[in-house]
Amino acid sequence: MSGGSLRGTIQLEVAQILSHEHHAGNQHVLRVHAPRAARSAEPGSFAHITCDRSVPLRRPLSIMRADPVDGWLEFLYKPVGAGLARLADRVPGESLSVLAPIGRGFEFDASRPRIVAIGGGVGIPPMIFVAERLRGDPRFARPLVLMGSELPFPFDVCESEIDLPGMPRAATHCMLLLEQWGVPSRLASNAGLPGAYRGHVTELAREWLAAAGAAAVAETQLLACGPEPMLRAAAALARELDVPCQLALEEYMACGVGGCAGCTVRIETPDGPAMKRVCVDGPVFDSRAVYPG
Ligand SMILES: Cc1cc2nc3c(=O)[nH]c(=O)nc-3n(C[C@H](O)[C@H](O)[C@H](O)COP(=O)(O)OP(=O)(O)OC[C@H]3O[C@@H](n4cnc5c(N)ncnc54)[C@H](O)[C@@H]3O)c2cc1C
Ligand code: FES
Repeated sequence: MSGGSLRGTIQLEVAQILSHEHHAGNQHVLRVHAPRAARSAEPGSFAHITCDRSVPLRRPLSIMRADPVDGWLEFLYKPVGAGLARLADRVPGESLSVLAPIGRGFEFDASRPRIVAIGGGVGIPPMIFVAERLRGDPRFARPLVLMGSELPFPFDVCESEIDLPGMPRAATHCMLLLEQWGVPSRLASNAGLPGAYRGHVTELAREWLAAAGAAAVAETQLLACGPEPMLRAAAALARELDVPCQLALEEYMACGVGGCAGCTVRIETPDGPAMKRVCVDGPVFDSRAVYPG
């Protein structure tokens, strides 16, 4: 399965807000009706959204869930500036202009059926999409989703009944929705959140992989999305264990569709370093290409 290039399928839709939940820590979950985008969204792809008439530029948000049958997309976001703050004021029944899905999503290598999906903060959404997409795929084990946050998690959590031998004892809780899907997940935080491993989410991943043993590690691939230090730590862990790792990057964007070069990052290619656009060449890249070591 491959996210591949999605440029040919980008849709522009006037998307009605179906629901808009507001959580502690200024975190918001938005669901919009965007049936054409919902049909072609892939884990790792994103939407470029007009937050409000008063906000000139669109803002990129990872697609957290896509329902091709009922035709909706769901996002989790935390405002850091004026654009997403205006978005948080919008109410169900109003409409947004949504350009989606954009970008190359994750590529899943069936020769490594154990997927560890690591999400930090607003990097959690693509990992929910990974879980939903892979939970019924017979080529893969159920992915393990590890989520880190210093704020209360913006979703229902519960004590997990899915036994994960080798998981640190403090990591008892999980995301309720993933548990209902039968997808194992665990939480990490430095903020002392109940049932969460105390530390960085990449340290939880490290402990889990150390306990899993060499044979399991040889079948593992890592996916990560989150703040830059977390991505660097995930890339370092992958290098150390010699496992493949894909990173979903979150750069500031203007056009969002490849036209302005405003989102370029330096990427190592077989022909040497090159400047790549996060919006359409990514946002998912191989960790060795982003952080060659
Ligand atoms: C592919 C992708 C997926 C993303 N997914 C999510 C997600 O799922 N959830 C989520 O919450 N966020 C996500 N983000 C991040 C989010 O789009 C940005 O944080 C966005 O800029 C926030 O918008 P804002 O209106 O809150 O803040 P902005 O108004 O954009 O400002 C944020 C801060 O950055 C500064 N800033 C703005 N533009 C620039 C620039 N060009 N260079 C330097 N500094 C700048 C501002 O001064 C301000 O301090 C994603 C980003 C990308 C690229
Ligand atoms: S944001 Fe314009 S090229 Fe990526």
